[in-house]
Amino acid sequence: MPHPDPASYDVAALRERFPALKAGFAHFDGPGGSQVPDAVADAVARTLVAPLANRGTVTEAERTADGIVHDARAAVADLLGVDVGGVVFGRSMTALTFDIARTLAATWAPDDEVVVTRLDHDANIRPWVVAAAAVGATVRWAEFDPGSSELTEDDVAAVLSPRTRLVALTAASNLVGTRPPVRAIADLAHAAGALVYVDGVHYTAHAPVHVEALGADLYACSPYKFLGPHCGVLSGDPALLETLRPAKLAPSTNAVPERFELGTLPYELLAGTTAAVDFLAGIVEPHGGTGGSRRERVLVSMAAVEAYEDGLRARIEAGLAHLPGITVYSRAAHRTPTLLLGLGGREQEAYAFLAERGVNAPAGSFYALEASRRLGLGDTGALRVGLAPYVDDGDVDRLLAALGEFTSA
Ligand SMILES: Cc1ncc(COP(=O)(O)O)c(C=O)c1O
Repeated sequence: MPHPDPASYDVAALRERFPALKAGFAHFDGPGGSQVPDAVADAVARTLVAPLANRGTVTEAERTADGIVHDARAAVADLLGVDVGGVVFGRSMTALTFDIARTLAATWAPDDEVVVTRLDHDANIRPWVVAAAAVGATVRWAEFDPGSSELTEDDVAAVLSPRTRLVALTAASNLVGTRPPVRAIADLAHAAGALVYVDGVHYTAHAPVHVEALGADLYACSPYKFLGPHCGVLSGDPALLETLRPAKLAPSTNAVPERFELGTLPYELLAGTTAAVDFLAGIVEPHGGTGGSRRERVLVSMAAVEAYEDGLRARIEAGLAHLPGITVYSRAAHRTPTLLLGLGGREQEAYAFLAERGVNAPAGSFYALEASRRLGLGDTGALRVGLAPYVDDGDVDRLLAALGEFTSA
């Protein structure tokens, strides 16, 4: 894989593609949902005004819908490095996780166990807790170190047993950015005979993704976090999906992956998802460059995004070091460019202060409720500063200036 040249990352040209940026806000709210490029919005709009029907092969309108679904599965397969036949679309990662948890739990016995982590977003905790309770299975909690925000293999090994049926784990924390050693944890889980469900919602937006290398049996993500529209994705090996029996309507197909997709798919959002993957694949080589497959180009682009965002993160961290009264909770050795800042109980005030200056950096627990509590931040959390491919140095200057003003006030 060629290493991306940081000089080829043209953030000014990139920003031109995001109509929302014209409003003039500095967006550090990407972990909650990214801004959308013109190409994604156009794909959504084009789909809605084209002749469109339910999937089928007889009318052009049916064939259009069918093509959109195939294209979107292929795009996600390229983004994640997964089998196109195992890509499932749904309303959100949360909805897909509740569905798959219920389906998997139907195969569990009362003395079976499921492992969740205190680091995860609640969408990769509660569905498993609820599903386990419904069949009398036991939930075991892997704790992370609140001092370092690290979750290690040992933390998970401590709660694994021969009865573990599933380990639910995030590839990156949406609260503090921690990137746990997913592969090492997955290897332990597999050795114990458990499946591994990886929440890739935050991670997919910030790094090249190789689902197989992560050791994930099932991997979930949400296009609206990576420049796409509001829907969710679950991917799994088709052979594994074939063994599962989700609740479904009698007339709907039993084929995989359609078996897992309840009701009519949002074709316009799927078209937008394809456009988002195409856009990501073009970030470093917007005009096709040296060519290569979309998978190859998306990996190069995401490596460039990762390097670029890490550079901005280093700038922010260096700037914060000069400001009084700020506690930085995002301190794992390996992490995404997502900072969590404590401001001595004034986080909500800072959120509003920054917003008045056009700097969007919200405060909260961001549904990583267990993690927020474990960090001693209760249910209210702290101020989150998240990066995205379109954030630039000017945004960082505005953030640091506004935080400087706030902390000196
Ligand atoms: C890490 C993480 N997991 C899961 C979710 C839930 O995703 P969705 O909104 O698609 O249900 C989020 C949303 O913020 C998230 O950041």
